[in-house]
Amino acid sequence: MHLQSTPAIADGLRKVESTVARLGGSSALPAINEAAERVIHAGGKRLRPALTLATALAFGKRLDRRIITAAACVELIHAGSLVHDDLMDGATQRRGIPTLNADLGRNKALVIGDFMLARAGLAAVTAVSRPVAEVFAATTVELAEGQFLETADLFNRERTQEAALRSITGKTAALFRASCLVAAICARAETEDRRRMAVYGERFGLIFQILDDLLDLAAPAGRVGKPTGHDLAQGVYTLPILRARARDPHLLDGDVNAILAKLNTAEIVEDTLAYCRELADEATAALPALREQDIAATLRGLPHAYLDQVSELTRRTTLRQVG
Ligand code: IPE
Ligand code: IPE
Ligand code: MG
Ligand code: MG
Repeated sequence: MHLQSTPAIADGLRKVESTVARLGGSSALPAINEAAERVIHAGGKRLRPALTLATALAFGKRLDRRIITAAACVELIHAGSLVHDDLMDGATQRRGIPTLNADLGRNKALVIGDFMLARAGLAAVTAVSRPVAEVFAATTVELAEGQFLETADLFNRERTQEAALRSITGKTAALFRASCLVAAICARAETEDRRRMAVYGERFGLIFQILDDLLDLAAPAGRVGKPTGHDLAQGVYTLPILRARARDPHLLDGDVNAILAKLNTAEIVEDTLAYCRELADEATAALPALREQDIAATLRGLPHAYLDQVSELTRRTTLRQVG
């Protein structure tokens, strides 16, 4: 994926970085600043704010203070949601360092996540615009609902594919959609073009989460420091698993080890990649006519490029299993 290294975007991301750091460090309480900054500086790909900058540039909009702040809000909402996610999932590592729940305890992690989400909302109202702030507020609502739906379905062997899709649309795709939509709003794009950018972002977000779920089942050991088969052990029956259950109705009978033993990884990889290819086609087809051709071409190629990257990763894994 070359989005973040495209020169104009890389340049904008440096400004986004200092804005995220300023917002994350803006509490009256030094202990909150220290914790939020730790999460922010630990790393992360900055994919979502890069989408915001790319969308703005594609519409011919210059990267002014509003766009930079909007992109910083996107990253702060993402980081805050990760703090809450790790708390909910009982995760001990994120971005290569201990999670806030592991380090400071659950209660502090909870309110520091709250701080990050709320601080992004405040920045959007005061330094971007009311319509953009509304999109972020609605996105945070969807995020909560998506995470709730996942929690409500833990260890539910009857979980439907539709239920899983609804959950990931809220917990992940909504923020990808917002990343693109807020830039289209700032660029004063036509209503239909805003809608098209939102669809592009949402489809890409779905692909991103579904492939993350796939990598939990089929990644080389040690990828980005996450354990594999973790979702299954935690009772999160993800879309790749539920699609496999459609082929083998008794797949989820028995305990985690029994399920893992029954999984046909090569088949799951092939099926999930094919499913994501359709989503990538939909994302690409949704893109509106854009002014800046180079950036537009990068956006157009991005979902398939990401798919190819994950496909390569999983290919090595399944080959190793066979060999
Ligand atoms: C992790 O997102 C959460 C998911 C939606 C799977 P990223 O993989 O974009 O996380 P960072 O920002 O790079 O750490
Ligand atoms: C990603 O959820 C976090 C959000 C979308 C808020 P997951 O629990 O599926 O992802 P990882 O594996 O912890 O990054
Ligand atoms: Mg998690
Ligand atoms: Mg989770």
